[in-house]
Parts: sequence; structure tokens; C-alpha cells
Amino acid sequence: MTTQRHRDGGATIIGWGTALPDRIVTNADFEARLDTTDEWITERTGIRERRHGSTTAALAVEAGRAALDMAGLTGDDIDFVLLATTSPDYQIPSTASQVQEELSVRGGACDINAACSGFVYGLVQAHGLIAMGLQRVLLIGAETLSRVTDQQDRNTAILFGDGAGAVVLEACENDQLLSFDLGSDGSARTLLDAPIGGYIAMNGKEVFRRAVTVMVDSARVSMADAGITSEELALVVPHQANIRIIEAACSRLDITADRVSTVLQETGNTSSASIPLALVRALENGRVAADDLVLLVGFGAGMSWASAVLRWTGRIPEGKS
Ligand code: COA
Repeated sequence: MTTQRHRDGGATIIGWGTALPDRIVTNADFEARLDTTDEWITERTGIRERRHGSTTAALAVEAGRAALDMAGLTGDDIDFVLLATTSPDYQIPSTASQVQEELSVRGGACDINAACSGFVYGLVQAHGLIAMGLQRVLLIGAETLSRVTDQQDRNTAILFGDGAGAVVLEACENDQLLSFDLGSDGSARTLLDAPIGGYIAMNGKEVFRRAVTVMVDSARVSMADAGITSEELALVVPHQANIRIIEAACSRLDITADRVSTVLQETGNTSSASIPLALVRALENGRVAADDLVLLVGFGAGMSWASAVLRWTGRIPEGKS
């Protein structure tokens, strides 16, 4: 589904936060117990370390609380919690229900599973809820992928990590979301899956090939709908799966590395959490100024994909404008 928005008012990001478990798992740790090397992992993926531990709810609560604190709000000010996750703590109920209780959120709560596209799917849904009259939505991407990854499988163990990132969206006059593109090709869903109670299995080569194509195609759709070219983008925040996927996609889009935010070197692939983790890193490093154009673009199991162009009408960290 593709759409361009044509109405006054909208929503903007007024606070953000992140959470990572304390335990760092380095490539050397894998080298010590699997048939792999730091060199192989770094060259093929760009990943040097990832974090393992905690629960999806605990990471989501920590990131969500930080976002509320930054916005000067409490849970009582929030009308809805959207939690993007593909590694929920329970089959039933939603992990968002625990976040709702622990943060004392007034409104509704639900999980969204669109795998690594989940945060951008959630962003669009948050805008939709606000367009329907809600005032504020807490959007979180949180994962504990280490629990659904076979730590003895060198094909997958090296890739995935745990973490969370959150934003608070608030109704405003100056809409931040210029355009978006959300998609899914369910016929390819067996390329990357995990049965209930089982581990992730993946056709890495095919996922790689498709990832580059859908990121480029989706980014082009969102940029065309926003009426912009890639030259005008101040920042690109791609899903953090593999540095070679990011480089290949950005090269086809004529986006230079200095305009791309990456955290995967330290986090690995954290699925729904990866885009907010990379977005917050860029914001904290002063890489976004008022009215900058920012592209978010992701892909993942499903196969799903999602992109969005934002004009940064949101908050800017102190002294960074
Ligand atoms: N260490 C050493 N060798 C490894 C390894 C590891 N950790 N993991 C796999 N290998 C081996 C394989 O067993 C295979 O060996 P074989 O040729 O003897 O069968 C070989 O390396 C595979 O090499 P190749 O296919 O050339 O690897 P690659 O360049 O495709 O890289 C991935 C593999 C998984 C890193 C890459 O395909 C990838 O990142 N794919 C996308 C995955 C992804 O992003 N998933 C999440 C989507 S949201």
C-alpha cells in the first residue's frame, strides 16, 4: 500500500529512548566456540558485537520510560502503546500489555509483528491513530532475538542481538510524515522463519539479494511520493542487518555513507529495534537539524518492507539545531 498524505496537521516525534542488555557478545566469543572467525563475521556482515539478555518487555519498558522522560510526560499522557516485536515474551497476551501496565499508560496497547519492518509499520499506524483523534502514541521496537536464535548455528547466531528503541509521537500542526510505502510478499515467507518454540532458519543468500532490491524499490516509491530526490536527504536510517546490504542499497540510490546512520557494528541485527536504535544514535550525535529530510527504510521476514520520508519537525537535542 502506498499513499501520500494531503491534510493539515499530523504528528511529530517529541521524545526518544533506547535500551540494551548489559551482556556484550563479541565476535571473539563466537570464535571461541563455533567454527567461525572475527574476520569472516566482520567482512561478511560488519557486525563486531551484539547484546544478549533481558526480556522484550523489560527492554521496551526501559526505552519507553526514557522516551517519556525526555518528552516530560508520564504514562497517563499516552493514549496508545504500539510495540513492534517479532520476539514477544508470551504467545498470549501481547508484550505491549506488560509495557502498558509498567508505564501506567492510560490507553490501549498491542503488538505489531512485521519483523524488521515493524518500527516503520508502527510509525505509520501511530500517525493513523493520531489522525483518528488520539493525542499521543508511544511507539517502541523491542526484541530479544538471542532467545529465538540457535547459539550453536553459525549461520544465524552471529547476526542477531537484543535491544529496544522508543519514540513518543504527538499531534501537531506540522506533520512529520511526508510519505510512506509498506509492503509484503508472503510467497517468500519461508526464506526466513522461526516456528513457535523453535529457532530462526534462513536462506541468507536469497534474503540478501531480495533485501537490496526491496530497500531500493521502496525507498524510490517513498521519495517519489514525497516529491524529493535522494540528493535532498540529510539522513538515511536503514534497517541494520548487514553493512553490505546497506552499502549496496545506498550505492544504487546514490546516497553517500556520510548520510547513513549505522549501529549494527555494536548491536547486530535487532529487527524491530534496529531503525529506532540507529535513528536515536543519529539524533544524539546532532546529525539531524530542523526541517531535514530523513528516510527510514527496512525489510525483513514475511518478506515485509517499509519506508518513510520524514521532514524533521520534531524535537532536536539541546544545542544541536
Ligand atoms: N563463519 C564462517 N563461515 C560461515 C559462517 C560463519 N559464521 N556462516 C556461514 N558460513 C559459511 C556457510 O556454511 C557457507 O559455507 P559453504 O560454502 O561451505 O556451504 C558459506 O559460509 C556461505 O558463504 P556465502 O554464501 O558466500 O556467505 P554470504 O556472503 O552470503 O554471507 C550471510 C552469509 C548470512 C552473512 C549473508 O548471506 C547475509 O547477511 N544474508 C542476509 C541475512 C539477513 O540480513 N537476515 C536478516 C534479514 S532481516
